[in-house]
Amino acid sequence: NSLSISPTTAIQSPLQIFVRAKKRINDIYGEVEQYVSDSCKFLSALPKDSDLITKEELVVVNSHVEKVKGIREVLSRDHMKVAFFGRTSNGKSTVINSMLRERILPSGIGHTTNCFIQVEKSENDESYLISEDSIEKKNVKSVSQLAHSLCTGSLGDSALVRVYWPTDKCPLLRDDVVLVDSPGIDVSPNLDSWIDRHCLDADVFVLVANSESTLMLTEKNFFFKVSARLSKPNVFVLNNRWDASASEPEYLEEVRRQHMLRTVDFLVDELKVCGTRTEAEQRVFFVSAKEVLQARTNEFKGLPLNTGIVTDGFHGRYFEFQDFERKFEECISKSAVRTKFDQHTKRGKAVVGDARNVMEVLLERASAKRAAKSQSRREVLDHLDFTEKQLQLVTVEMKDKICKMVEEVEHKVSKALND
Ligand code: GTP
Ligand code: MG
Repeated sequence: NSLSISPTTAIQSPLQIFVRAKKRINDIYGEVEQYVSDSCKFLSALPKDSDLITKEELVVVNSHVEKVKGIREVLSRDHMKVAFFGRTSNGKSTVINSMLRERILPSGIGHTTNCFIQVEKSENDESYLISEDSIEKKNVKSVSQLAHSLCTGSLGDSALVRVYWPTDKCPLLRDDVVLVDSPGIDVSPNLDSWIDRHCLDADVFVLVANSESTLMLTEKNFFFKVSARLSKPNVFVLNNRWDASASEPEYLEEVRRQHMLRTVDFLVDELKVCGTRTEAEQRVFFVSAKEVLQARTNEFKGLPLNTGIVTDGFHGRYFEFQDFERKFEECISKSAVRTKFDQHTKRGKAVVGDARNVMEVLLERASAKRAAKSQSRREVLDHLDFTEKQLQLVTVEMKDKICKMVEEVEHKVSKALND
């Protein structure tokens, strides 16, 4: 993946922290897999009657092969997940479309999104969706087609539809970010099941609030539930529809201050997900997703960003959205590396440690066996030495005796002959 990214993007995007870490840990797991399968082959080839390894030890090492294969599979699917929540019509789907630089998700006035929609990269450059109630891949070429597919389904509001989208226009998807859109939190009684099903593995949460009103109790309560299940979730707050402030410039600064104060109070004192007010201020943004999406659509067509009707303060809001994206990317890549790869590192260490223990025990047993063998060989050699010497002695003695006997016989024979 990182090969297809130009060097400048590679340096600029904080998402590369995750992309590089994933490549590195994948390479390491390649080596671990080789080591474990080599160990397995070696141990299985030992003579059955050698007493060097027990059946249990062999089972342990064999199980490592499957374990490592499993971890590598999970690793290949690991991604950075961001989930968007907020009241209906606050602009969740529009924010996601702006970040993806393309109008993928249906958005509009009224209650639009009626189930969870997860957008992730398509491996084969085709756009399609898979819903929870079937394994069928449905082609999706346009946002209206997607809206139609979602309407005809009889899915509940906790159900998940996965949309696979080509990465050519969406750098976020290319870098393994998965974006999850949700229905408005004010229109569902199933918030607990939402959290169970969609929030526990999220790396970052984005609360899309409406800057035309204020943070609502439903929004706060949902995040209280989330933080009761996850320790210190990463939460960003987007005060969306900030373009509306342009029509009341005299109150702009005051309203901004009021929103900031309340949101920071919420993050620091109530939710306790930020340690300091300065830290919390870095998590709050005033944006207009609608403007950003329009600007990016223009950019794609080669037109200037601000073609069409431009509301006062557009550039400031556009930069603030970019600032949000940058801080979000930093946060999500660091958090995902920590939560995802920390587990893999621990499990990898345990597998290698186990395999090493078995090999060490084997080595000890083999050394003891060799020492015992060389001891008995030395004893046999000593014995042979002794026998040889004895034989030599015996031979010399026998020779002398035989000589003497021959001499005696000779003597007796010659005496007899003489007589
Ligand atoms: P549900 O899916 O129904 O929960 O709504 P949502 O939160 O996904 O909102 P959606 O993105 O569908 O936007 C609702 C309406 O608000 C659409 O008509 C958008 O064009 C409009 N909208 C979104 N963001 C902005 C914004 O920043 N400014 C203005 N003026 N309108 C916006
Ligand atoms: Mg929506």
